[in-house]
Amino acid sequence: MNKLDSELAAEALVDAGHVVVDDESDADTVVFNTCSVREHAEQRVLSRLAQLRGRRESDPDFRLGIMGCFAERDGEELLGRLPYLDFALGTRQFLRLPEILADLDHGGAVRGLFGDADVEQHGIDLAHPRQRHSGMQGFVSVMRGCDNWCSYCIVPSVRGGEVSRPAGEIAAEVKALALAGAREVTLLGQNIDAYGKRDGTSLAALLRRIDAEATADDGLVRLRFVTSHPRDISRELVETVAALPRVASHFHMPAQSGSDRILHAMGRGYDRAGYEAKVALICDVIPNAGIASDFIVGFPGETDDDYQATRHLVETSNFTNSFIFKYSPRPGTRAAETMADDVPDLEKRRRNNDLLAVQNAVNESRGRSLVGTRQRVLVEGVSGRDARRWLGRSEENLICVFEVPEGADWTGKLLDVEVERATALTLYCRPLGLA
Ligand code: 5AD
Ligand code: SF4
Repeated sequence: MNKLDSELAAEALVDAGHVVVDDESDADTVVFNTCSVREHAEQRVLSRLAQLRGRRESDPDFRLGIMGCFAERDGEELLGRLPYLDFALGTRQFLRLPEILADLDHGGAVRGLFGDADVEQHGIDLAHPRQRHSGMQGFVSVMRGCDNWCSYCIVPSVRGGEVSRPAGEIAAEVKALALAGAREVTLLGQNIDAYGKRDGTSLAALLRRIDAEATADDGLVRLRFVTSHPRDISRELVETVAALPRVASHFHMPAQSGSDRILHAMGRGYDRAGYEAKVALICDVIPNAGIASDFIVGFPGETDDDYQATRHLVETSNFTNSFIFKYSPRPGTRAAETMADDVPDLEKRRRNNDLLAVQNAVNESRGRSLVGTRQRVLVEGVSGRDARRWLGRSEENLICVFEVPEGADWTGKLLDVEVERATALTLYCRPLGLA
């Protein structure tokens, strides 16, 4: 979502006549798009701002700003505390970047804009959508915000409540991105399975509509969606993913923990058996689906037994990937306000490394089990390291490497391959033919 927001902000600036430069030293304005999910991300922004302080103080034309979650959470205070910070724009205000820069040029006094606004009114130019970083991949936000209030999470308070976009607008944007060269579009929502809940529609209906409106003739060959809350994954959704060949059979469905006690304290709304039932539902409908998960280790009160339950879940679930985080207390969240951060950092680190090793072993055995199978790969381009090797991604989002015949350019095409060899992170394949 932050990547998309950076692109939208860049687009708004370019529309207003600004130019995006590759090198920070060529810029007369630097804006950091910030994250607040863990404290570490905020610390990094503060140190990056401090690095630019000297330049800001010696060059009166240079401007320094922040946007996004940290700006929303703490912008007012940061503007007071850091005199070299020119402006801060919250999670739903960043499209006013050109406006605040123009105001500052004219001696305007407003330096912070926060709170609610309709971020989707970005007036996408359907002929030139987005300042995209990768021509082949597009991001489209389908909903923003979250109503779940998991006890550890800052997202509902910095990004606000769930707001879904109209399906017609989303389908038109996907089509426009495809016509502009995107081959794969990822639909984004903090809690995407709740899409349209209040309007009597659903993510499944949205996927069907996009699939019908943005056809392969437009160039769209693959659709993905993130992130799924386990509680909200429905049979209808899974069956829709199975029925639409262009929708990748891959679910990012964070478990966060394998311990019922901890899941309850996290306020996740399911227990371990509930999570496993969703995994079983997905595998029942789509036997070779990929599922990736997120985990937090060292949540308040997490005992070794609780951690072992998480470890067991990773050992047995065959995830394509696990994103593992050490618990970080976030101001204002229920966990930070009412539960002691009582797992020592050393122990958090130990559990983090241990769980990474478990997932790595899962990746290795998963890779081995894929040798000999056929995979459908979206070809991304030539490998940076070896010009004869090409890279692409499977539906499960695994990196595939293969050789392409002399002179052929398969970039952006779907290719069927057979897996010949695998490591934990890469499948080495033999091309069978374009799909
Ligand atoms: N501390 C550590 N990790 C967190 N996440 C969310 N909040 C916190 C926190 N306070 C993790 C969750 C989520 C991912 C995006 O970040 O695992 O799924
Ligand atoms: Fe945060 Fe995700 Fe929970 Fe929403 S569902 S509160 S974004 S962890």
